[in-house]
Amino acid sequence: MCGIFAAINKQSVTRHLIKGLQNLSYRGYDSAGIAIVDHSGLQRRRAEGKIERLIHCLETKPLEGRVGIAHTRWATHGAASQRNAHPHMTSRVAVAHNGIIENSHQLRTELESRGFHFESDTDSETIPQLITFYLNLGLEHDQALRSALERLEGSFAIAAVFDDLPDCIFAARRGSPLALGYANGGHFLASDINALKSVADQACHLEDGDLARISLLHIAITDQHNKRVDRPRQVICEQQSNSDRDKQGFRHYMLKEIHQQAGVIKRTLGNYLPGADNTIDFPLLPFNLAELQRLNIVGCGTSHYAAMIAKYWLEGFAGLAVEVDIASEYRYRDGPVCASTPSLFISQSGETADTLAALRHAKQCAQHCISIVNVVDSSIARESHVILPTMAGAEIGVASTKAFTAQLTVLFLFSLKAAVSRGRINQTEKKRLQSQLTLLPSIIDNFLNSEHRILAIAQKLQNIEHMLYLGRGIALPLALEGALKLKEITYIHAEAYPAGELKHGPIALVDASMPVLVVAPPGRLFAKSLSNLREVSSRGAKVILVSDQQGIDEAQDYIDAAIAIPTIEPLLQPFIYTLALQLLAYHCAVLKGTDIDQPRNLAKSVTVE
Ligand code: F6R
Repeated sequence: MCGIFAAINKQSVTRHLIKGLQNLSYRGYDSAGIAIVDHSGLQRRRAEGKIERLIHCLETKPLEGRVGIAHTRWATHGAASQRNAHPHMTSRVAVAHNGIIENSHQLRTELESRGFHFESDTDSETIPQLITFYLNLGLEHDQALRSALERLEGSFAIAAVFDDLPDCIFAARRGSPLALGYANGGHFLASDINALKSVADQACHLEDGDLARISLLHIAITDQHNKRVDRPRQVICEQQSNSDRDKQGFRHYMLKEIHQQAGVIKRTLGNYLPGADNTIDFPLLPFNLAELQRLNIVGCGTSHYAAMIAKYWLEGFAGLAVEVDIASEYRYRDGPVCASTPSLFISQSGETADTLAALRHAKQCAQHCISIVNVVDSSIARESHVILPTMAGAEIGVASTKAFTAQLTVLFLFSLKAAVSRGRINQTEKKRLQSQLTLLPSIIDNFLNSEHRILAIAQKLQNIEHMLYLGRGIALPLALEGALKLKEITYIHAEAYPAGELKHGPIALVDASMPVLVVAPPGRLFAKSLSNLREVSSRGAKVILVSDQQGIDEAQDYIDAAIAIPTIEPLLQPFIYTLALQLLAYHCAVLKGTDIDQPRNLAKSVTVE
């Protein structure tokens, strides 16, 4: 997490730095800072809290210059405070850092024993202190930087400016992304290529081990062997439309993005079903779906829940065995990785550190790796053998909504394609399911018209402290995702359990103070969920049922509230049920007055493990 932006220009770069930080604030918004270098040396401004606080600080104490680095922080080591905000600096060098320095404790002890004085609690401050140590030994700037970087364990992307080099910025990366932007008036650096699009017309990604020296007219990159290299440049242009960036009359980005879901599904379907002949137009996959024995699907958070839903589809109607993994577990489990089993990675941002590491691990084990990503020039996209993009557009609310339904759309098409290839369904059934899929956008829009009914339920929940979500079968990942949404944006403690596990422990939590939300779509598991619902109701719990009208009528005597979902093709239930749970979490959060689009402690892109 955290965001780095840097600029060197003929005019003052302060406004570019602030704009860059605003574009990167999805990576962290605990504190922010800038450092400028000119002929009188290094100067910086830092502020705790969101970037507006830094802007305010710059209004009262302006700082202008033609060369500068900037950072927006998501705290890992040390509280979110001005003292811990980046850039960190000594009298000789200022550094903005993304990533985690795993051996910072040892390095700090060593440097302190040599008389170095640290002013923050961060791991990042080790970097300028270490560079200073090597400068004091008489090394040249780039040598001091390289020597310092060689001592670091962990992942990093850094931008550095030196007090006695007012015409250049240094950049280096290992594990965390960094991109260089080329523009007419100067050069830019950002930890996300998208943040360069408003200032540069060409960009290149640095590779792991690269060190770049950036001056106004020239950029020199050396690789991990200290050899001069060129990294391929690409033309970049502002892809984000204004409609992505403004709230279009909605109170929050999250609400706007919930309401965009019909359009997002339509666009994603349009991308993969371009013709009138119903062919699912996927890029050439590096494996034969008909002969596949097994597939791994890996992701984190909401993307992991999308994978869990896909498991029900792929196993249930495509007859393909699927193993779903949380990326942070998969990468360290040392499980046998079979080269003939491909892996599918799911990530909205395409930058999630654990998912990226899991992908690299799978590639090292010679697996074919495909990924479903929303950001098509992200690290995961670039390192995958094949990508299946989602067409969700920029998702700005930290809690994922439209990216999730876009992932489900691609996963459903993938499952359909697999089912046909494996002879599990015929063309008629495929056509029927596809036409049901194309009905989704209008079903979603109709459902959103009844949002006020969900608001009424949220009003009953605004003062609760805990909530239990239950689901069975494909409703389990929906319950998990619903509970995740609730805890993320309302800070209400919410847990989701497989309904069948209730008696194995969690029922001990149930009494009148524990509302229970049961996700129970119609189908063969409904009766079983109804039994669980009665069990919690008889222990005094207030029960909210999410089901179709028939299910609600059946459960009438045991429930306190219900969200009626239209009866649709059972395989497509996840698309609508998830909408109801997103809206419930959203309206609870509005009533609680939390920061919905940027909830505390979270960041949109989890680039550290
Ligand atoms: C939840 C949420 C997170 C992300 C997770 C993975 O609302 O947004 O749980 O789903 O951090 O992120 P991506 O999909 O970018 O890899």
